[in-house]
Order: sequence, then structure tokens, then C-alpha cells
Amino acid sequence: MIRRLAPSVLNADLAQLADQVRLVEEAADWIHLDLMDGHFVPNLTLGPPVVAALRPHTSRYLDCHLMVDDPEALLPALAEAGASGVSMHVEALDDPARALAAAAEHGLDAGLAVKPGTPLDTVLPYLDSLDLVLAMTVEPGFGGQAFDDQVLPKITAASRAIAGAGRPVALQVDGGVNAATLPRCLRAGADVFVVGSAIFGADDPAAAAKAFRELIDGGAG
Ligand code: DX5
Ligand code: ZN
Repeated sequence: MIRRLAPSVLNADLAQLADQVRLVEEAADWIHLDLMDGHFVPNLTLGPPVVAALRPHTSRYLDCHLMVDDPEALLPALAEAGASGVSMHVEALDDPARALAAAAEHGLDAGLAVKPGTPLDTVLPYLDSLDLVLAMTVEPGFGGQAFDDQVLPKITAASRAIAGAGRPVALQVDGGVNAATLPRCLRAGADVFVVGSAIFGADDPAAAAKAFRELIDGGAG
């Protein structure tokens, strides 16, 4: 199984975004970008122009987590900006099948994200038409929150459902992932690990990212 590290720059020094990405790039598979609109979540971050600005500075996969009321509306601009994949919150979508198809039409890998309290049943009908399931392990909106243990059974269930689907679907965890919680997610079957403040809040983000890389590659029990 391919395991991926996706550092989240939400809590990085955003005035120096390209330099911050460069610090973790060698250890990272994906760079996780949190797009928030101030409505779906009570925080307002970055949009397609920042994705476009970052694009020439890294060859890494740009993994865009859309915490917005109307994720479909952003797809053309994100494709144009050079995004690689998008995760759209199922809570924000009237018609997830249509949104996934629209992302694919724009050449974007397509994922569905669920908040901690949203049942897995909301995404299972779409396993044959998505590339990624994002299980939030905190309420979306802010970095630096504590990992919600209660999501672990949902991760295990998602991993089993994906195995039964017979096609490659990544299972991403996001929120409160650190050296203590990552191994628990890994054992539950997650394979893409978003790590924000445990990397960019460290004294040496490059060394922290490298340590997470080793934790993931070592299997972490
Ligand atoms: C929160 C974001 C996360 C955030 C994670 O809504 O989706 O990607 O950056 O940060 P940590 O790892 O600090 O919880
Ligand atoms: Zn995120």
C-alpha cells in the first residue's frame, strides 16, 4: 500500500509560502492546501490565485481541501491554477455524483470529505467514482485542534469498504495528526496523512517532516 505524507500549510508562515513548502518538500508526497470561505467554516484562508502562485514553486501534487459552501464553483479556477486533486465536503453538496464528475472533467482527482459527525454512509455510494475519501478527525476550520478518537471506527469501516470496492481509493485523515495519533490512523487503515501544526509548529519543520516520513515508511506498528 502506498502511504503518503501531506503537510498542511495552514499553520505555516503564509507570508513565505513557497519557502515553507520547500522546507518540507523532500519528505512530502502531497502539499495539502486548505481553502475556506468564511461560510462553510468560520475561517477564511486561500483560494485559486494562491494555488496558482504556488504552482511554479513545487512539483508536488497539490491536494486542495475545499471547506466552502459551493465547491463545484471553484473547480474551473482550480484546474486552471494547477491543482492536482480536490476534496469536497459531502455536507456542502446537493449532488455528490455530479460534483465528482465535474472534478474529473476538469482533470482533477476527486475526493469527498466528511466531518467527524457525518456518517460514512454519505460517501459509500460514490466509491466507484472517487479517488479519495477524507475523514476529518477535527471539526474543519482551524489547525492545532486535538484529534477526535471517536472517528477511528469510521476510518476502519472506510478502509474495509474501500478494500471491497476493488479499485484504488485513497483514505486520508486530517486534523490533530501527530506522532502519537498517526500510528493509530495507520492501523485503522488510513494511507494519506495530513499533518499541519505538528510539522509547521515545530522548531525545525524540515526535520519534523522527515520524522513523519520515517514514521509512515516504517509502518508505525
Ligand atoms: C483544518 C484543516 C487541516 C489543518 C490540520 O480544518 O483541514 O488541514 O491544517 O492542522 P493540524 O494538523 O494542526 O490539526
Ligand atoms: Zn485540511
